[in-house]
Amino acid sequence: MRKGISVSYSLDVFLEPYAFKQNLAADVRRGLTAPQKYLLPKYFYDDAGSKLFDRITELPEYYLTRTEQHLFSSVKPHILKATRPQEVVELGCGNGDKFRWLLHAARDREISAYIPMDMNAGLVESVARDLVRDYPFLAVHGIVGDFETHLAHIPPPKGRRLVTFMGSTIGNLGPEQRKGFIAQLRCLLDEGSHALIGLDLVKDAGMLEAAYNDQAGVTADFNRNILLVLNRELAGDFRPETFTHHAFFNREASRIEMHLVSRKEQQVRLAALEMQAAFQSDETIWTESSYKFTVGMVEEMLAAGGLRLEQWYTDEAGWYALALIGTA
Ligand code: AVJ
Repeated sequence: MRKGISVSYSLDVFLEPYAFKQNLAADVRRGLTAPQKYLLPKYFYDDAGSKLFDRITELPEYYLTRTEQHLFSSVKPHILKATRPQEVVELGCGNGDKFRWLLHAARDREISAYIPMDMNAGLVESVARDLVRDYPFLAVHGIVGDFETHLAHIPPPKGRRLVTFMGSTIGNLGPEQRKGFIAQLRCLLDEGSHALIGLDLVKDAGMLEAAYNDQAGVTADFNRNILLVLNRELAGDFRPETFTHHAFFNREASRIEMHLVSRKEQQVRLAALEMQAAFQSDETIWTESSYKFTVGMVEEMLAAGGLRLEQWYTDEAGWYALALIGTA
């Protein structure tokens, strides 16, 4: 930073730790009292869970992340030409690397604003701080929130906008949630704006199942980590070693389902909720759905929400897609 010039970013926090805990408590109570017990996948990502996920992305079986990265780098010039963004909104900004690649590939200073959103406050703040330090011309407005609840807090576009939602995160949303998300996304876009969504595609069950049942057992540890989150946040007494990881492709529903299977009949107590959960032997907690798409599913979902598929990019093998989306 040059002397005498102060660069700064702004940060809106819609998910402070207290609200996070209240939401977690309500979601866990609802999930563990349902006939099919379930937990929401957004709760995987404490510090340990985020590290485990980073390791998943490096696994030989988990093709998603590296396929998206290769695809993105090969089509980036085309995307930039088609969208000429002045402003980028990133849903799930992670470490901000993807935005840096975009910024470097864009025309000098054409992108002048960045709105990173993530549930992890530390991440959003460090991404914002580092970017304004490295690119003082950039206006950075970080948002700490959840893409299902807080999209309405994203300000309206001030120029040609590109909203990115990468990493196949949309796969965690069921058909109804997806409709809600697309409707909200539509509100973030005006004419001339675009969205870019990364999606994993329907394919051979063996390959899909291998990606969620890695040899090294990292996905199993990632799955069980959610029980450690509950133990810590809600004073629970789950014994993760009494649950096994189970992931399979449900072709009718077009999703990988990930479960934790109780290996025995047991009672688990969550002191902070003043509740017990009883498990039969082999009863499962459904912890994640990862939907797999076809181009037809995507076109239908967009059309229903007033959006239009402008470009459909896939890797050569057809494993993964980036959907470039415009307003209808
Ligand atoms: C981060 C939601 C894209 O569903 O593939 C990886 C999470 N779960 N292995 C996915 C995950 C198990 C991942 N997403």
